[in-house]
Amino acid sequence: MTSIGELRRRTLETLSRPSYSIAKKDMVLLNDNANLFGVNPAVMEVAEEFDFSRLWAYPSENSDALRDRIASEYGLSPNEVIVGNGSDELLDIVSKTFINPGDRFCSPSPTFGMYRFYARVNLATICEVPLRPDFSMDVDRILAQNAKLTAICQPNNPTANLFEMDAIRKILAESEGVVMVDEAYSDFSGTSMVEDIMMSPSALDIRTFSKAYGLAGLRAGFALAREETINELRRVRTPFGLNSFTEAVAIKAIDNCGWVRSMAEEMKSQRAYLDGKLRAMGFETYPSVCNFVIAKCPVEVTPLVSALGDLGIAIRDCSSFPMMKDHIRVTVGPRALLDRFLEALDQLVTVRIE
Ligand SMILES: Cc1ncc(COP(=O)(O)O)c(C=O)c1O
Repeated sequence: MTSIGELRRRTLETLSRPSYSIAKKDMVLLNDNANLFGVNPAVMEVAEEFDFSRLWAYPSENSDALRDRIASEYGLSPNEVIVGNGSDELLDIVSKTFINPGDRFCSPSPTFGMYRFYARVNLATICEVPLRPDFSMDVDRILAQNAKLTAICQPNNPTANLFEMDAIRKILAESEGVVMVDEAYSDFSGTSMVEDIMMSPSALDIRTFSKAYGLAGLRAGFALAREETINELRRVRTPFGLNSFTEAVAIKAIDNCGWVRSMAEEMKSQRAYLDGKLRAMGFETYPSVCNFVIAKCPVEVTPLVSALGDLGIAIRDCSSFPMMKDHIRVTVGPRALLDRFLEALDQLVTVRIE
């Protein structure tokens, strides 16, 4: 009998998705940049008034109420908004919509690994352009790739920096293909490329409720683009993508933006604390505008990350990223969580240096 592996699409033969799962739920999760300052209060507010007895019914096909709310927030038309089950779904849809087998996909590197993954699922030719040592982009080399789809993460995960706005503007203006700007962390950096993106007929702004909005478990994200571009994405999107509870919470979360703002302020002061402590321990940290810090380790990274894991603390080992062989990425959280991590780290580093 033919095995399931033999039935697999041949083109997926060498592909495997990066795994984000953490074995133990009670670990301190400083590894995935979710919002460690807690869940958005919108969840409980909506739960109190939500009509759960209506969950037998399908939600609106395109999450119209949420699209209306997002559109009014950004001064756009609802037809310039599409929502997804997390921004990951939108990254997937963009690749499905625009990549023919063999089309060129370009991104600076290192960056968020899922862009490349979805491009590979759709059989793109991957053309990554290394960041310069100061983590800036080589715009001319990116444009020289003549990519069908270019992905820029602004600010960039994992390097935690903002690219020059003019560099992104040049890519938006001169690329012949589709340009997707992922602003997952922009609520922390206080920046936005939306105006520039809306000036381009083939650009998309990707956003998420998983980071500053504190709703990673609910899975909601959205994309902003010209109506013609959104209509192209709609062609391949699953109907009823977002459940009705998530839709209601996401609307309320936008209404309650004060929570996001005050949490982001608190995050910044904890980020400065974490940065200072890491430096004092001999780590070389980099400026961050995100809710995570990257640092070059004074000791070997992989055994360190694994020893922290044994103590119930998860952080990201960045050694698989180009340019970041000796680096860790740590999500910023409340002081008590950071202190737990720093205490364990201090002991492990001292033992390894001695
Ligand atoms: C840059 C970036 N984009 C998108 C995502 C995906 O977020 P979600 O699918 O939870 O919206 C992440 C998650 O870590 C990310 O770092």
